[in-house]
Amino acid sequence: MRIISIASQKGGCGKTTTAINLAAALALNGCKTLLVDLDPQSHASLGLNINSQDSIYNVLSNITPRKLKFKDIIVKIENNFDLAPSNILLGTVEQELAEEIGRESKLKQELDSLNNSYDYILIDCPPNLGLLTINSIRASKEVIMPVETSRFSLVGVERLIEITDLIKERLNHTVTYNILVTIFDSRLRHSFSMLDKIRKEFGQKMFNTIIHINVKLKEANVMGSSVINFDKYSRGAKDYCSLARELMLSDRKAAISNLKDIKEKMQELVKQKSKEFIEATFRIAAPSAHNVYVAGDFNNWTLDEAYKLKTHNGVWFAKLPLKQGHYRYRFVVDGKWQEDPQNNNTEKNPFGELDSLLDIK
Ligand SMILES: Nc1ncnc2c1ncn2[C@@H]1O[C@H](COP(=O)(O)OP(=O)(O)OP(=O)(O)O)[C@@H](O)[C@H]1O
Ligand SMILES: [Mg+2]
Repeated sequence: MRIISIASQKGGCGKTTTAINLAAALALNGCKTLLVDLDPQSHASLGLNINSQDSIYNVLSNITPRKLKFKDIIVKIENNFDLAPSNILLGTVEQELAEEIGRESKLKQELDSLNNSYDYILIDCPPNLGLLTINSIRASKEVIMPVETSRFSLVGVERLIEITDLIKERLNHTVTYNILVTIFDSRLRHSFSMLDKIRKEFGQKMFNTIIHINVKLKEANVMGSSVINFDKYSRGAKDYCSLARELMLSDRKAAISNLKDIKEKMQELVKQKSKEFIEATFRIAAPSAHNVYVAGDFNNWTLDEAYKLKTHNGVWFAKLPLKQGHYRYRFVVDGKWQEDPQNNNTEKNPFGELDSLLDIK
């Protein structure tokens, strides 16, 4: 479950537009996604035509007579796309929680009750750095910071980075952040010089995807729909689908590096284990045989596929890793047990036949 806050104290920089359309694009790609509207303005809920009595307020408040869990307030928007709506009451929750111990972790505790039932949880934050935004960052591992290519937006980002550092220091919780350039107007020279500035400042911490200005995003919002439903061929839909792919790719990269880690650990383990074993070679000439096994103390005298010999020009052989020790063994040639004709070191067994002996040192 990847929990991502979409936050910036700057109003109107595209937080809600990103939250709605990124959620819709992830859902379209088969990712089970929950959008949490954590803004008392309820723009994400209204932007999806949801005007709900029950909201995050009922989940976070301790004084409401109608206390609910996350699962009780969730509204299905589309296939794979759920919404936890907000309403105006949420505005009072910051004051309600002001004196409460652990008030910064309230949302995290409640989200934990969802038991990993989503691939992605996106949280649309209000345009300030108050208790709700702090709760959101505390519950998240990642923060998307939308930056409109206007003059004042970078100040907002710097303040938000300060807050994430503070959360790291005070609550011992680390989040990664990535800047998303939004409402980019390629007709303006100013946009490009701002983009340059952002790139210089944040380089690696930026999404490759840029969200261009697109009137369809505004129209979809007015119609209470994601742009993907409203006009899937629009620039806005393409930009948000590209952002979703970028996020999903980073997931895959993390999974691959995880896999590499596991592979390296396995190789190390095999290396360590193999030091305990010494390779013993078993060989017998049997040109007309169809199958030859070796059985002994090392495999409880069973005819095991792992102990089947290979043949080359009528000579059968196997190289087997054995621990140090003293072993008795026999060959089984086409079902017939016999001692190793090349090995004079033998011992009589209870059946009156000879077992071959092998010392691994
Ligand atoms: N790429 C875009 N192209 C055109 N219009 C956009 C784009 N992104 C956002 N808008 C419009 O800009 C306005 C503000 O966007 P939005 O509500 O997403 O910002 P916000 O950061 O959530 O605002 P707030 O801080 O109030 O929560 C909305 O009318 C929205 O439709
Ligand atoms: Mg908003």
